Amino acid sequence: MRRLTGFQPTGRLHLGNLLGAMRPLIAAQRTTESLAFIADLHAMTVDHDPARLRELTLETATVLLAAGVDPERTALFTQSSMPAHYELHYLLECTTGYGEAARMIQFKEKSSASFSGRPGAGGPVRLSLLTYPVLMAADILVHDSDEVPVGDDQNQHLELARTVAQRFNRRYGETFRVPAGVLPDGVARVMDLAEPRRKMSKSTSTDAGRIGLLDPPGTVRKTIMRAVTDTIGTVRHDPAGQPGVTNLLTILEACGGSADDFTSYGALKTAVADAVEEVLAPIRARHAELVKDPGHVRSVLDAGRERVLPRAEATVRRAREAIGLM
Ligand code: TRP
Repeated sequence: MRRLTGFQPTGRLHLGNLLGAMRPLIAAQRTTESLAFIADLHAMTVDHDPARLRELTLETATVLLAAGVDPERTALFTQSSMPAHYELHYLLECTTGYGEAARMIQFKEKSSASFSGRPGAGGPVRLSLLTYPVLMAADILVHDSDEVPVGDDQNQHLELARTVAQRFNRRYGETFRVPAGVLPDGVARVMDLAEPRRKMSKSTSTDAGRIGLLDPPGTVRKTIMRAVTDTIGTVRHDPAGQPGVTNLLTILEACGGSADDFTSYGALKTAVADAVEEVLAPIRARHAELVKDPGHVRSVLDAGRERVLPRAEATVRRAREAIGLM
């Protein structure tokens, strides 16, 4: 059983990433063959700054290691260091319909006029934004992945990857393993602290809505104390009626706190801030060690790539032959 997780370096990793994707990866790496990569090519599907992309790519890798991704157990690498991903991308573009890509919800949202003005959305819509899910399919299929953890926002992309794989296999002969989307145990869905009906996001949340994994303790506490709640005054799980309070309870429980007997939102927020700080402090400390030696992080990424390269190249060879290249 091989599981693949991708992290897009379009912004800094936050608490939602930790509780939604990083923790399940760290928990599963003991028992499941795990691959994790930094999707730096995907980060170029919207307006990007070269220096910032480079910085975020290294930072994302460093924070993953600081949080407990164990390079002995998880092969960690960057997408762009593996030409097999983009070789397969082209072959899959030749087996995917324009309409299939254009109907993706994320493409429609990110390419619509209402999205420009949001961070990361400057300039014209890039062609690569349209083909983004095809590259994602290549990421998945090139490693013969069995499982891909997906939240709601990536579900449709995973379905497309399955469709593309099945169609290719039917038309050109058995070539790809067909992946399954999974919702791993222990995933917490963390919402934006300022707009609790939306997910906490690297690209669309503001500083008030997001807790960066490297934010200093004072900032973390301030952001939590200012989180949007409501005027109802009751502390309970009620995602529809009290999304802000529910989100605070979700975070508290995911960070090891217990959610009983709060009589005020202030007390709840203090407990959340304490619990989050306990989770972030060791990550921050380990990160401070790791940033002193970026060469070490680079060598981890190189080693991860070397480990997965042979299989990825074999998949591309299979696909090339099946599709009719000499
Ligand atoms: N698109 C994913 C995201 O935004 C990142 C990603 C790219 C990915 N390629 C992938 C995730 C392949 C899983 C598998 O979160």
